[in-house]
Amino acid sequence: MRMYDLIMKKRNGNSLSNEEISFMIKQYTTGAIPDYQMSAMMMAIYFRGMNERETLSLTMEMAQSGDVLNLSGIHGIKVDKHSTGGVGDKTTLALAPMVAAAGVPIAKMSGRGLGHTGGTIDKLESFTGFSTAISEEQFCDNVNRIGISIMGQTADLAPADKKLYALRDVTATVDNRSLIASSIMSKKLAAGADAIVLDVKTGSGAFMKKEEDSFALAREMVRIGTGAGRETIAIVSDMDQPLGNAIGNILEVQEAIDTLQGKGPEDFTQLCLTLGSYMLVAGKKAHDREEAKNILAETIRNKSALNKLAQLVEAQGGDSKMVFDPTRFVRAKIVEEIVTSASGYVQQIDCEEIGMCSLILGGGRETKESSIDLSVGLVLHKKVGDAVKEGESLATIYANDLEKLEVARQRFLKAYTICETPVEKKPLIKGIVIA
Ligand code: URA
Repeated sequence: MRMYDLIMKKRNGNSLSNEEISFMIKQYTTGAIPDYQMSAMMMAIYFRGMNERETLSLTMEMAQSGDVLNLSGIHGIKVDKHSTGGVGDKTTLALAPMVAAAGVPIAKMSGRGLGHTGGTIDKLESFTGFSTAISEEQFCDNVNRIGISIMGQTADLAPADKKLYALRDVTATVDNRSLIASSIMSKKLAAGADAIVLDVKTGSGAFMKKEEDSFALAREMVRIGTGAGRETIAIVSDMDQPLGNAIGNILEVQEAIDTLQGKGPEDFTQLCLTLGSYMLVAGKKAHDREEAKNILAETIRNKSALNKLAQLVEAQGGDSKMVFDPTRFVRAKIVEEIVTSASGYVQQIDCEEIGMCSLILGGGRETKESSIDLSVGLVLHKKVGDAVKEGESLATIYANDLEKLEVARQRFLKAYTICETPVEKKPLIKGIVIA
């Protein structure tokens, strides 16, 4: 088999056989197929697309290209959750302890990621001493002992995807639905859970800006998961404005803690209850979603979810007192209000721009090597549909550098559109995709 022939086949609009996809991924992972040939293949796929069988085959090959986590030593049905990402998305920090407190084992691998804030791993490292660099054995032991563990993605999880994603990033071939779906699902499948709940974001702060594209991606991922023999469902949720109010690592951890204390923002709490209800049903801890939501709400009321977070932090070397005492977190040196000069109603928030403000303050990474300032960010006081008055604060900004603060403030003010007439609030959950 020759890569040249496979490129030509795809370029001419034909589908690749499973054997050809297997050859291509194996040879690329070992380095026998060079980047320039794979770049041509990615561009051919970008324009010609892949059918369902090809997409599943690519996903399985990438999932099996390195370590596949064996979670069989963990008792119970393991349910994983994945979000396609957005601004203020701290869902795992609150949802994982809630679901674990309800009895579904959480054995989760998370990443750091590029973007306006760090990933779940960075956020968890806001707890002094917390380590996600734990062995697979410790990971499984922790889940069996306390019902929850979150580890950093191992270097050898789906290495074919790692190489391919980096290549797509520099060859303008990221935004193809089949390639995105297979990339995300290859990592989820290699991470070993029995069932997968996906949160596909849609809107100005999401990867997919249009609702129809988000639903199409959700359907593609559900098809892959189901085809791979894992129960998979997806919700499509709004990312036309930040999720919750906090954007920035420590600020998001604190908002997750507030949520576990029953004081969280309404949209964020609703998202956790919705995603969690599907996880509890998949994990056979509830008969239906209504019952599941009640169980989850009770984990907040009786503080078992908050205590579960403290157990997680403690088990992975962190200072669990921080869960109960927010003053123990590092605080940014400068804390100021962003005041509006307009009166009316918030019509629109350019969500991506708000993410950029966090990045400018130092809360995110522009390159893999960038370091991250965990203490900076924003807490919004006004969301879409809220009434505002001249002189009121739209947000509190947390910074460690005055110059960066000013740049972020100017961009922040431009990201808000305020109009004179009342604005209807849009639903957070746009729909559900099941197999
Ligand atoms: N996230 C991934 O992991 N892969 C993609 O292709 C896009 C987003």
